[in-house]
Formats: sequence, C-alpha cells, structure tokens
Amino acid sequence: MTFYNFPQNFWWGSAASGPQTEGRTDGDGKGDNIWDYWYQQAPEKFFNQVGPGRTSDVYQQFKSDVQLMKQTGHNSFRTSIQWSRLFPQGTGAINQQAVDFYNVYIDELIANGIEPFMNLYHFDMPLALQAKGGWRNRETVDAYSHYAETCFKLFGDRVKKWFTHNEPIVPVEGGYLYQFHYPAEVNLAHAVQVGYHETLASALAIQKYHALNLDGQIGIILNLTPSYPRDATNPADVKAARIADAFFNRSFLDPAVKGEFPADLVAILKDLAILPTYQPTDLALIKANTVDLLGINYYQPRRVKAKETPIDHTNGPMPDDFFDNYDMPGKKVNPYRGWEIYARGIYDILTNVRENYGNLPCFISENGMGVEGEERYRNPAGQIEDDYRIEFVQDHLKYVYQALQEGSNCLGYHMWTCMDNWSWTNAYKNRYGLIAIDLDHDCQRTIKKSGYWFKQVADQNGFEA
Ligand code: BG6
Repeated sequence: MTFYNFPQNFWWGSAASGPQTEGRTDGDGKGDNIWDYWYQQAPEKFFNQVGPGRTSDVYQQFKSDVQLMKQTGHNSFRTSIQWSRLFPQGTGAINQQAVDFYNVYIDELIANGIEPFMNLYHFDMPLALQAKGGWRNRETVDAYSHYAETCFKLFGDRVKKWFTHNEPIVPVEGGYLYQFHYPAEVNLAHAVQVGYHETLASALAIQKYHALNLDGQIGIILNLTPSYPRDATNPADVKAARIADAFFNRSFLDPAVKGEFPADLVAILKDLAILPTYQPTDLALIKANTVDLLGINYYQPRRVKAKETPIDHTNGPMPDDFFDNYDMPGKKVNPYRGWEIYARGIYDILTNVRENYGNLPCFISENGMGVEGEERYRNPAGQIEDDYRIEFVQDHLKYVYQALQEGSNCLGYHMWTCMDNWSWTNAYKNRYGLIAIDLDHDCQRTIKKSGYWFKQVADQNGFEA
C-alpha cells in the first residue's frame, strides 16, 4: 500500500457552468442564448426533449448547494457567469439582478471556505450576438471583451482565478463541423474564423485583466486529447496523429501559452486557402497576452491512423481528410458512455505541459466519468453506489501524482462535476456528479458514495491504495 500524498494547498473540487446548472432561463432579466433558442426551435434534438430550462436550479438552491460542496470536500469550485444573464443582449444594458445573484453566490462560496474560480464563456452565446454571426463576427470579440472587463470590475475583488473560455474547440467542432451545437453548420472556413476570434477574444480579456492590476490570475480551460498513433513506428500514422493534435489541441494550446499558432496547422489552412481574416496588429496582441494558468480537461485520448477511408467531399475540406480515427482493439471502455478510459493520458498531458510549455502552472479542471442509467446503482437507503467512479478517479489521480513527482506544476484536481447537470443536447443522459439529482422530485440532491470518498481524499490530501 502506498499513500499518495498531494502537495499542500492542492485544489480539490469540481467544475460546472452557469447555463448547465442555474435554471431560471426566462426570469429575472436573463436574455436568450443559443441553447434557449435552439431548444425552442428543435426540442427533438435534446435527449428526452429536456431543455436548458430544466437544470438543477442552482439559481434558487445555491445556499444549500454550497453546504453540499463542503460535505463533498470542496476547497474550490468552478462555474461560469452566463453572458446572457449579465448582458441580456450580449452588450449594452447590464441586468442588475444578475449582478446581485453572482454577488451573493460568490460571497456564499467564500464564506464557506470554497474558492470560486470563474469562467467567462461556456458555450453560451447570447442570441442577439449569434443573430449577427456569433463568433464569426469580429464585433462579438469586442462585445466579449467588454463583458469580460465588466466581470473583472464587478467581481474581481473576490474572484482570484478567472478563465476566458471553457473548451473553445467545442463550439468550433459542435457549431461548425459536427453539428452538435447551434448553428450546426459544416464549414471548415467558418470553423477556423470562429476559433481565431475565440483566441483573439481570450487575449483581449487577458490584456484587460492584467491592466486592472487585480490580485489574481487569468487562464483558459482546454480539453486536451493526447493524440496517439496506431503504430508509433509507422511515419504515416505518426504524421496523422500529429495533424489531429494540431487541429484539436495545439490550435488553442499554442496561442494561449506561447502566443503563437502552430506552424503546421497554419500551413495546412493556407494550402486550403482558409486562413482566417485578421488584422495585422492581432498577432502581436496574442503574443503579448498569454495565460497565467492553464486548466486541463481530460476525458479520453484520441487514437489515430493514416487516412484509409475515402475523403468525403460533400461539405468541402474537413480535419478528417487528414487522418482516420483508430478503434484500438482491447482498449478499456466506459460501458456507460462509450468513451475510452486511459488514465495514463492525464500523465502524458501534464508531462507535455512540463516539457514543452514551460511547466506553466496548471490544474486538472475537469475529469470524470459519465454514466447513463445511473439510477440502477441506487441502494435501498437511497445512495448511488458508484464504485466505478471512485476507481476511475483514483486511477487518474495516481497518474497526476506521478507527474507531480517528476516536477509537474499541477496545482489541483477538479472533477466534472459537482452534481448531475444538464449537458447540452445530451441533457441528463450521462450523469457525472458527486451528488445525484432526482429530476422528478424537485431536483432533490443526494450525495453519492463517490462524494463521501472524495471528501475523505480532500481531507487527507491524498489516499492510500
Ligand atoms: C465537458 C464539458 O467536456 O463534458 C461539459 O465541459 C459537458 O460542459 C461534459 O457537460 C459532459 O458531456 P456529456 O456529453 O458526456 O454529457
């Protein structure tokens, strides 16, 4: 038996987001965002037709939720401000009720010894801005920068950890390549412009934050998927994996940390004649405004092989023209979500950040296990016995520990998520929480077995295994 002892003041907690938890989508002055709109237009796209209005109702229940966070070992917690709650039209007039809500929520967390980490953009484009093109339109970058600065001024005296985006590649993939976010287009040129504007917006927000001289840090949260070739001795597989890495990881990681776009990705986009529209001064701005802190979301790796299937020309160029995904025989799979489980991936990411990204301060900002049909694990006493989740987290933490032993600057571990929450078109299909929600009984909360286990880990700052 070894005791895995984590560094002092390690951040233990979880992550969530405003649009996935708050509820009260049509009251208290909130404006519509793309999710409110898409659900009104096409409820059938959402699992069991459950839309963004049916979240865990944190807007009303946050005080008791903070107590549940304490009972599950949180010393820190990340959520996001809803842009369309603060600025119902995305820009212009502020909604004072939103200011009041975030003020009391933040104060409640701090009063209970839980440090609030605040993210600014978690997939929730205000509808009024989407109507003008959303991230495709440079005006959105200016609106975002104003929104970000407003948040820093309103809440930056108490919030000391800020994040410009959560998983900025996801709106690119979902909205403009694979159709799981609104506007559900398939257009690589639009996708590239969207990604570029997200990066520019992030750099502008970082510039504004640093100019305010607040006592805190600002970063970005990226979902990193280590890209492994089918055969590491086959140059074509290795090249394919490298290209997938450029599209899905380095596209945001390099500009966020190094202030530069990856040369191999730029060369591909240039060849395809789909470089984004930009202004000459942008590149210096991106170079000068890199992150203080990196949040890493890790769920599963990407396995890649050289392109074997024919290129599908229906929608013009796609990242998938350069590689095929590889279904590795014998891989361990989460049977309830279908995703590969590969705990060592978390170590590979932390090692990559240490070796190739200046060992920037970072933390695991999301990791977790989604389970469909988790109610079947509820015991007669009412508790979800999620031993599979405990094993999952423990396996990943062992690799975080190993990376730390080798000098990683990893400062914490946040789970996705605190309590089961609404997850976009997947709604409540996959449950991830340390706390279960009973949707049929006023969103009644019960701490899962993993929640009690996590508290023990946080209290002991480690575990024996
Ligand atoms: C994360 C996102 O990547 O995955 C969350 O940051 C999302 O917003 C989570 O809810 C789980 O996704 P899913 O599709 O398994 O419910």
